[in-house]
Amino acid sequence: MAVKLNKEEEAMLRGDHGEAPKIAMEVLMRLATAFGAEEFVPVSSVQAMAHYGSLHDAGLEWLEKLAALGGQCCVPTTQDPASVPLDKWESLGFDGAYAAKQKRLAQAIKELGEVLTWSCTPFNVGSIPRFGDNVAWAESSAVSYANSVIGARTNRTPAGLAICAAIAGRIPKERLYLDENRTATVKVNIDAGTLSTLDYNTIGIMLGKFAGTRIPALTGIPNTASSDQLKYLGASAASSGSVALYHILGVTPEAFDRDPFKGNKPAEEVTWTRQDLAAAEQALTTKNPGEIEHVVVGCPHYSIWELKTLAKLVAGKKLKKNKEFWVYTPFETESLAQRMGVLDVLKEAGIQILASNCLVISPYPRSHKTLMTDSGKFASYLPSEHHIELVYGSIENCVKAVTE
Ligand code: F3S
Repeated sequence: MAVKLNKEEEAMLRGDHGEAPKIAMEVLMRLATAFGAEEFVPVSSVQAMAHYGSLHDAGLEWLEKLAALGGQCCVPTTQDPASVPLDKWESLGFDGAYAAKQKRLAQAIKELGEVLTWSCTPFNVGSIPRFGDNVAWAESSAVSYANSVIGARTNRTPAGLAICAAIAGRIPKERLYLDENRTATVKVNIDAGTLSTLDYNTIGIMLGKFAGTRIPALTGIPNTASSDQLKYLGASAASSGSVALYHILGVTPEAFDRDPFKGNKPAEEVTWTRQDLAAAEQALTTKNPGEIEHVVVGCPHYSIWELKTLAKLVAGKKLKKNKEFWVYTPFETESLAQRMGVLDVLKEAGIQILASNCLVISPYPRSHKTLMTDSGKFASYLPSEHHIELVYGSIENCVKAVTE
């Protein structure tokens, strides 16, 4: 079926608005055709990607080309973290030639008019869609948060396409933009008592493995679950599976006072107990960890509340000799922490803040063999990405492991 276009979309395709919008619409038309979309929807924001670790030279040249053609984002557009910490790559030992490519990407997206948040938690740095908004977000953990926690609508927008959505201000209406594709199909009952933040990570990992690409609805999660805890649940589920939308009965907006199954019976239903969670938690520590040399947290990026909690845990402590502790967070959150005195406490303990960065999409400029994290998503990716052993545990245990 042909895609229905309005006058503005036809004009963009003809090139009436310039070469960059024409190219953007041509690319989006291909996506529309591939997924059988009948029309486009306007988007209120875009979360794109500009990290060299995934985009490589081809992505860099693509963004530079759109910038050179005068391309401009016509809706608020943020982007994922960069592949080096932009303000301290040199002092932390990142390779200069690699950093230079990342800096070219930074220049290209600046010219394209993106808002330079460099974070996988755009919802913590000013990009907050409303319930029911159509957005085009790329980062899988942010996609999960937008769909599930906010009730906005987005697919996992491929990195190279997100910038097209930003320039054209629209995206083909297909998959999760359509009501009928947001229905839960499998059910997970959590019967594990009080849940810690680490439990939300672990449940997310289990959820991704169980649901795959299906849409799960969960019971047994309290409506006191925090934004950070739901952030971890979604990020972990998107890393061990391809969950882009989950519902929690009585908690998330599309399952708060309505049936997420829309009257259908779940295709599959499971119940996970405390024992199931303990086994899954244990399995996230790799088989041969040595002594923990380096703690890495902030996947997804730490919020100000998490930085404050960490400061309380390390107040008056120091890192042991030859140990490192890195925290990933947005620039804005780092600056907030500075104003609040939180940063001084962290620095005093020897903790490094890597604002704007992410270890999964960066080179690892260290030779440490065993790392520890409190993040299910880091636990999913780091052992294979960086060939390290990994210990998975609570933030309290992360602190205990490397401080005195
Ligand atoms: Fe963010 Fe990187 Fe984790 S982009 S969600 S810190 S893998």
